[in-house]
Amino acid sequence: MKEAILQIKDLKKYYGSGDSQVKALDGVTFDVYKGEMLVLLGNSGCGKSTLLNIIGGMDSPTSGQVMLGDTDITAYKDRELTSFRKEKIGFIFQFYNLLPDLTALENVRLSIKGKDKDHLAEKTLELVGLGEDRMHHYPSQMSGGEQQRVSIARALVKKADIILCDEPTGALDDKTGRLILELLQDIVRKEGQTMVIVTHTTPIASMANRVITLKNGKIQKEKVNEHPMDAKDIEW
Ligand SMILES: Nc1ncnc2c1ncn2[C@@H]1O[C@H](COP(=O)(O)OP(=O)(O)O)[C@@H](O)[C@H]1O
Ligand SMILES: [Mg+2]
Repeated sequence: MKEAILQIKDLKKYYGSGDSQVKALDGVTFDVYKGEMLVLLGNSGCGKSTLLNIIGGMDSPTSGQVMLGDTDITAYKDRELTSFRKEKIGFIFQFYNLLPDLTALENVRLSIKGKDKDHLAEKTLELVGLGEDRMHHYPSQMSGGEQQRVSIARALVKKADIILCDEPTGALDDKTGRLILELLQDIVRKEGQTMVIVTHTTPIASMANRVITLKNGKIQKEKVNEHPMDAKDIEW
């Protein structure tokens, strides 16, 4: 039996009103299953980022619910939302969103609560392929692929149940992008986290367990991949 970790129910997000109203999300309903890699696929402007930001508690919908067990996170107050984001969600962005004045190690360290921060941050950076020689570099001294590895380490180190990725390869060349996808797939397979990846790049969908295609703020179709491809074999 698949267990839903999140249930998205009739989610709507409208901007503006009257003739200029934009329906970024127009009634989206689906479950996210524990441990799966789910790809949300669709052209630019179809509502992918809006959806991911609402799921991650960074934006609020016009109506609808995001259920985490029995609680609707869209009804959370600010303080509850902050701890939801801190404890349950790891977010990976197209442009990494690292703090420019902090080193790789310090960026990752910031996400850790409790003791032994340096040790844990170092171990996690090693896990994503950044060795001792890179840890004390600032984002501006790293390539895009390296910065994305730091941002993945930052998401991983929290041991968050759910990792949300918004166009994680969008700013990278194909080869580097594929290495990042391999890393993300590896994480889901080894660590058992649940991962939602938003992309407009169709071939990326073949590595997912399930693909939901969005169009104009609605779900257009859903497909299960019985045999997800290895990220290393994806061509685009
Ligand atoms: N703050 C905003 N104000 C008005 N319209 C917005 C805002 N944010 C997003 N939109 C619109 O909502 C739609 C969906 O945007 P977005 O979720 O960013 O799409 P995607 O990530 O799929 O490219 C687009 O038409 C976009 O222009
Ligand atoms: Mg987007």
